[in-house]
Amino acid sequence: MCGIVGYIGNHLAIPITLKCLAALEYRGYDSAGLAYLDSGNMGVVKRVGKLENLNNFLKNKIIPASCAIGHTRWATHGKATVENAHPHTDANSVLSVVHNGIIENYDSIKKELKDKGIKFYSETDTEVFAKLLGYNLFSQNPDFDKYYAMHNSLHSTYKISKKHILKALNTTISQCNGTYAVAVLVKGYDDTIFFAKYKSPLILGKGQDENFLASDTPALLGVVSKFYSLKDGECGYIEKGKIVVCDENLKQTKPIFKKISVKPEQVMLGSFKHFMQKEIEQGAESVINTIDRIKKLGILERIPAQIFEKNFNLHITACGTALHAGMVAKYIIENQLRIPVFLDYASEFRYKEPLINAESICLFISQSGETADTLSCVELAKQKGATTIAFTNVPASRMESMVDYVIPTSAGPEIAVASTKAYLAQLGALYSLVDYIAKIRHITVNFNIDNVRLAALSNAKFNYDETLNEIVELIKNEESIYFVGRGLDYILAMEAALKLKEVSYIHCEALPAGELKHGSLALIKRDCVVIAILTQDDLVEKMLNNIHEINSRGAKVILFSPYADLEKFVSAHVLTPQVDNMLEPFAVMKPLQILAYKTALARNLDPDKPRNLAKSVTVE
Ligand code: M6R
Repeated sequence: MCGIVGYIGNHLAIPITLKCLAALEYRGYDSAGLAYLDSGNMGVVKRVGKLENLNNFLKNKIIPASCAIGHTRWATHGKATVENAHPHTDANSVLSVVHNGIIENYDSIKKELKDKGIKFYSETDTEVFAKLLGYNLFSQNPDFDKYYAMHNSLHSTYKISKKHILKALNTTISQCNGTYAVAVLVKGYDDTIFFAKYKSPLILGKGQDENFLASDTPALLGVVSKFYSLKDGECGYIEKGKIVVCDENLKQTKPIFKKISVKPEQVMLGSFKHFMQKEIEQGAESVINTIDRIKKLGILERIPAQIFEKNFNLHITACGTALHAGMVAKYIIENQLRIPVFLDYASEFRYKEPLINAESICLFISQSGETADTLSCVELAKQKGATTIAFTNVPASRMESMVDYVIPTSAGPEIAVASTKAYLAQLGALYSLVDYIAKIRHITVNFNIDNVRLAALSNAKFNYDETLNEIVELIKNEESIYFVGRGLDYILAMEAALKLKEVSYIHCEALPAGELKHGSLALIKRDCVVIAILTQDDLVEKMLNNIHEINSRGAKVILFSPYADLEKFVSAHVLTPQVDNMLEPFAVMKPLQILAYKTALARNLDPDKPRNLAKSVTVE
């Protein structure tokens, strides 16, 4: 949710900043902008919409700046307009700020600054931060006139000290509530980028005579090999050959840089047209890599067996697709281990005074490991003394640093906003945990963890293209599509509906098939489309009754199922591989994900960047 970048070095800063920003566009694409310092002058350029609009504007313009900050925005405060796009400037236009996060008390600060005569041009909380920083830096500084004079007469050599700028940054931060990763340029410091971080991600990249800052490691791929993930409260500055990191008391610290493990080809399209297409294809290998790595590194054995031997209450909390993975886990744990599981949307969990205590084991699932809703639940669980376990895909994420134990998923970077391979990897990791608990509690489960590999690979022999192309023609102009299933299939229907709605903008709703007759059947009319998922042996008869009920209302049923003989009952049948009943999620989800992808294309939409969404949701 918003990506920020900073570059200082010997090369032209603007093309490098744009390149790094491109790798962060998954964090937001409502607008893009950058600020640079060039021979004492500060330039700010912003464009609404995707980064390509900013790229096009700057194409063929050579600006000899060697220091720049950039931003790609997911709008929180204020519409996607040029005025609201970052960077934002202070009242005297001597500093510019890019920001990821939310300043919660921006409104009251804005009022105070307005009372002091400061004027605002945007609706954003970030402009308030910039104006406040400018106020703290200059208006209260007896040397301000000297400084200001310098910028009107470039012959002056007067500079406000970096120490003073850091102090003003620290004061500003102490006056703001909320979350932030900020990068700041100050006129007169053509060779310095100031930064600060609290709860929003910010990393530093160390190069040879050049340094970077960014929201995430993909931005640094191909430019530097080492990064440092800033801790909450840290601030400092980067120069061409120097990195200074201070703690919240402005005491200098010694950051330890790590090697970036992601490879450049992992964040490139290669022969694929879209990341969603590439990532759906990587589903099986993501599951296998996850399970193998957990086994090879003895990840589960790091969690003491005793905590699963005694009585405990188990909670699963997550958002969106990650929550749907959690729902599958709840189903399997209750069905196979006979242990009750409490499951909550992270955005609800916090506010319902959850029943957690020191006997609780809380599982948090998050691809990014930085989803604000889920992170606040981790904080709450820790306060209550619960054991916390995170399933995350992004190494060194904030969630990893907060929990007691991490079970990593090994899907590799997931770039498309719609989560596909990470969902399957999460299932792989969750099934591994179920298997581990079963062994500790001497329970025999109805699936063999070694068969997960086979289930994940089962789609390899299936080519869904022809059937799915026909189905896309059938559904692409629909306004509403209903998804139905029973038991485990209903949970899969929820995920399939989310996938289709987020990339196609068709209203999709998942319903338990047996519930239709209790109200929702009123929505089913002639020719409307119902997608049914049926993978469980013991549900075939009951589900067929529901399919007949839908057929009787003249609706078209599209069935995703491994049972070939059901074709005669439906308008279209996608035959899926038959695997162990408990392992069906690994087999049936791929064609449903492809259906969503193909429908987005048929509606001329960009499946990788659905409107209004961003990959990492770092605001609550
Ligand atoms: O990074 P997380 O797994 O915590 O993200 C959670 C959701 O925001 C995410 O799964 C979202 O629902 C996806 N866009 C769905 O495809």
